[in-house]
Amino acid sequence: MKGVLGAMERQLAGQLAGKNVVVTGAGRGIGRGIAMVLAGRGAAVAVCDLDAKSAQSVAEEINAAGGRAFALESDVTSRSSMDAASANALRSLGHVDVCVANAGVIGAAGFTDRPDYSEQDWDATFDVNVKGLVHTVDAFVPSMKERRSGKVVIIASHGGRAPRGPGAGLGSVMIPYSVSKAAAIQYCHHLALALAPYNINVNCVCPGTLWTPMWEKIAINRVAADPSMKGMSPRQVFDASIKSRTPLGREQTPEDIGKSVAFFASDDANEITGQALNVNGGAVMN
Ligand SMILES: NC(=O)c1ccc[n+]([C@@H]2O[C@H](COP(=O)([O-])OP(=O)(O)OC[C@H]3O[C@@H](n4cnc5c(N)ncnc54)[C@H](O)[C@@H]3O)[C@@H](O)[C@H]2O)c1
Repeated sequence: MKGVLGAMERQLAGQLAGKNVVVTGAGRGIGRGIAMVLAGRGAAVAVCDLDAKSAQSVAEEINAAGGRAFALESDVTSRSSMDAASANALRSLGHVDVCVANAGVIGAAGFTDRPDYSEQDWDATFDVNVKGLVHTVDAFVPSMKERRSGKVVIIASHGGRAPRGPGAGLGSVMIPYSVSKAAAIQYCHHLALALAPYNINVNCVCPGTLWTPMWEKIAINRVAADPSMKGMSPRQVFDASIKSRTPLGREQTPEDIGKSVAFFASDDANEITGQALNVNGGAVMN
């Protein structure tokens, strides 16, 4: 992937050479960034997303840059859809070395207009962020078990490590999301124990604050719900959140998350399992 790689990236270009990876929710945002970094480091990537068009466009972008990728339309809330994605990936790639469970949602439709959570927010976040994660693992891990080799990387959130709702400058509408991400981290621990005998490592990356369509929804919600933010643009709300709560004072990027995923996906992390790594500029330190 010449041309899109900086000097450091060129040094790491072979880190994942020969590895086959699957990334869910890779049509935009963090998932797209993960897919780009892993492809840049030599992996063949199955770009999975509910939105077939965006998955296709990311796969084309990677192929145009000299990488290897293909798109798979798939819905993590459906076990049969994920089984079909797994069968397709195995047919195209032969085997899967790394499964990155990234697809996630912040809440149900209407999230931006609610100061407090609704029952639908609990259902939507648990359907995608928890059950969708389990469907993804259940679909892709059996072939890893057969080969006695594999890596699972779960994209959780620092919101799963410490409360990020009221008291942290955000509304109670964030609570279902944060609890779903705490569940993802606990699932990672259970899975790491269960899959260790099969030589499969399971780790979490916990992103901090990234300007993606997901965080834009949080910012729109804040402007509507918090009188002190009246008149601010969503981006101004985001910038204020970075400034007030991030020790390093910077937002994270999808590429930052991709680099941590690349580490967990690589042989450099062969002795690491059951861990959750914050990539958040120090905003939550546990
Ligand atoms: N943006 C942040 O600040 C932030 C912080 C911490 C954690 N995260 C986590 O990172 C991951 C990606 O977040 P993002 O900000 O890129 O979100 P995003 O909303 O920008 O992108 C999510 C992607 O997932 C896909 N998706 C949604 N439901 C799906 C389903 N049922 N099946 C398959 N694909 C589906 C969407 O089509 C989209 O392409 C999520 O798990 C999120 O919780 C994000």
